[in-house]
Amino acid sequence: MCAALTELLGKASLFGELELVELEALAHTAELREFARDEVIFAAHEPADGLYVIVNGRVKVCVSSAGGKELILATLGPAQFFGEMALLDDATRSASVIAQLPTTAYRIRRDDFERLLEQHTTIARKLLRELSLRLRRANAQMESLATLDVVGRLARYFIDLARQHGQILGNGWVAVRRPTHQDIANSIGTSRETVTRLINDLEQRGLVVNEGKMSYLREAVLSETEE
Ligand code: CMP
Repeated sequence: MCAALTELLGKASLFGELELVELEALAHTAELREFARDEVIFAAHEPADGLYVIVNGRVKVCVSSAGGKELILATLGPAQFFGEMALLDDATRSASVIAQLPTTAYRIRRDDFERLLEQHTTIARKLLRELSLRLRRANAQMESLATLDVVGRLARYFIDLARQHGQILGNGWVAVRRPTHQDIANSIGTSRETVTRLINDLEQRGLVVNEGKMSYLREAVLSETEE
């Protein structure tokens, strides 16, 4: 059990360069947790209990208005981490994190995370790099919400989804598990009904092919420059 855990933690981008003995020590105190689809892993404003590293599945990071309207800020998948912000700024959780698919994640204790951060500049550098990337994506999302019409936002959403979570099939196509229409709507600031209608439009224009729970995009769209 501990060996498998050590191997998995070593694959997580943040801890990839740790020595085996350090990974083993981390694995010893980390807790493996499983979440069903739609299960709340933690809610915004809760006190922080640790950093999570995703083994498999996918989570959504979201905030809700007083009226219950949800805005999805990001989706995160295998080897990515979440829950670092409240540990770094010593505040409560900045957003809720909910399993979008059945998800397994390791919870790393706050004191282990803080110790590793102090001892390893590579971890601190990787963390800063990832935070910069997330800030860039948040800026792009803000720009998209403010400047694109809903068709443009939906097209950009699918491209980003394929870039971040897609699997290149090797035949010119990328496959990605499609979130629910409601989750897509909550990511691009529109209604579920509008998403349902516009997905059919994208499909008729040949930009996306939908089969069951999967969507397929041409691999070429991944290398299109981001506007
Ligand atoms: P924390 O504030 O502890 O709990 C919520 C987590 O969601 C946060 O740490 C980050 O890991 C993650 N998070 C918050 N905002 C974003 C964002 N804009 N993009 C990606 N992840 C985020």
